[in-house]
Amino acid sequence: MSTIALVTGAGSGIGKAIALALAARGDKVIAADLDIAAAEATAKEAPELITALPVDVASRAAVDELRDRTVAEVGVPTILVNAAGWDRTDQFLNATPEFAEKVVAINYLGPVHMASAFLPGIIEAGGGQVINLASDAGRVGSSGESIYAGAKGGVIALTKSLAREMARHNITVNCVCPGPTDTPLFQAQDERLKAALIKAIPFRRLARPEEVAAPVLFFASEPAAFITGQVISVSGGLTMAG
Ligand SMILES: NC(=O)c1ccc[n+]([C@@H]2O[C@H](COP(=O)([O-])OP(=O)(O)OC[C@H]3O[C@@H](n4cnc5c(N)ncnc54)[C@H](O)[C@@H]3O)[C@@H](O)[C@H]2O)c1
Repeated sequence: MSTIALVTGAGSGIGKAIALALAARGDKVIAADLDIAAAEATAKEAPELITALPVDVASRAAVDELRDRTVAEVGVPTILVNAAGWDRTDQFLNATPEFAEKVVAINYLGPVHMASAFLPGIIEAGGGQVINLASDAGRVGSSGESIYAGAKGGVIALTKSLAREMARHNITVNCVCPGPTDTPLFQAQDERLKAALIKAIPFRRLARPEEVAAPVLFFASEPAAFITGQVISVSGGLTMAG
């Protein structure tokens, strides 16, 4: 029986690369995204293995509906990858309360809702792996991204705390922090900021989404069974957090 993995944000960028890489190794994958047309396009690349389903990770009701449809239509996932995320770069002093709430709802409460809805099934199945996509902004800060950085720092702390609680259930919880990565989210940022970031990266280029998917697949594999509560950056050396 093949492993079932659920990936949020699987319609684009890093989430899409993760969904395709999991399918390429033979996992059954649920590609969940707010943009269902984008998730369906991902599923078309491996139709026998990937099922597209809609979700708004900011809504607990929508996440519960996703869980119910996933279990009914595919089965119980034992790998959960939280890759959905969103931000717009701007000065902190320009942020409205509505913007702040949206950033926290998607980037922090999204992984909280997903873990809360899916962990009971993973526990009942005997164990599994949760992998959260945070950001180097959450490790070292990022100007123009204060609220997003706070939410991603929260994802890192959530990862470590859940790792402690879930060990007794044979579940690992780890975190991958992308640096600047060539996806639509990055390309939507200010041109000058993008150029400055690329210049600051020792490798002088952006990460490719597949390079961020690589440690996600490792965390979701048997050789990583004793690794939990860990944070790894994929940033071409831009950040070297201790
Ligand atoms: N690209 C980067 O430079 C970079 C850097 C650090 C961290 N990250 C993080 O990596 C992850 C993937 O980012 P990406 O660059 O691939 O972004 P992307 O914009 O290319 O893809 C994000 C996907 O998430 C989906 N999404 C957005 N809000 C959602 C919601 N409420 N519910 C469900 N799906 C939703 C979008 O529809 C999209 O398909 C995110 O968590 C992001 O914060 C990206």
